[in-house]
Amino acid sequence: MSTQEVSGFYGHDHDELDSFLSQFQKLKRQDFAQAKPFFRKFKFGLQRHILWEEEILFPVFESKTGMSDAGPTAVMRQEHVLIKEALEELHLKVRQNDADSEKEEKVLIDLLESHNLKEENILYPAIDQLTTAEEKKVMFQEMEKVPLERYASCGCHHS
Ligand SMILES: [Fe+2]
Ligand SMILES: [Fe+2]
Repeated sequence: MSTQEVSGFYGHDHDELDSFLSQFQKLKRQDFAQAKPFFRKFKFGLQRHILWEEEILFPVFESKTGMSDAGPTAVMRQEHVLIKEALEELHLKVRQNDADSEKEEKVLIDLLESHNLKEENILYPAIDQLTTAEEKKVMFQEMEKVPLERYASCGCHHS
């Protein structure tokens, strides 16, 4: 079996998340109830993606290169903070069933676009280069072990 590459897998996850958000945008003015599950898939999926990166992927890069406080993963972690803030701004609109969320969507999409490009062009290929097939296998196994309740929640105090 061929080795799972970080670049391919994470790039594909970016694309899938983009498509959930665009489905939400397409449907929200027609039928908000139908649009909402796409936002939920996007939000939970993005929370999972960021958690995978920060807890599994980036630590591998940081230990291989010795770069943690400065360097690309430090920048990516800072950008994650901004992305999560923008995600919550949009979430607030969705919770209120308010379809006038173009401004919030644009902030989030702009952040994600440049962030994802940097990861896809620089960081993921570097991680693929730095790791053996066995190390990659371990990373993917660790990703599978992250329990649903760590990311599949909206962060609100309702169920
Ligand atoms: Fe990221
Ligand atoms: Fe990413």
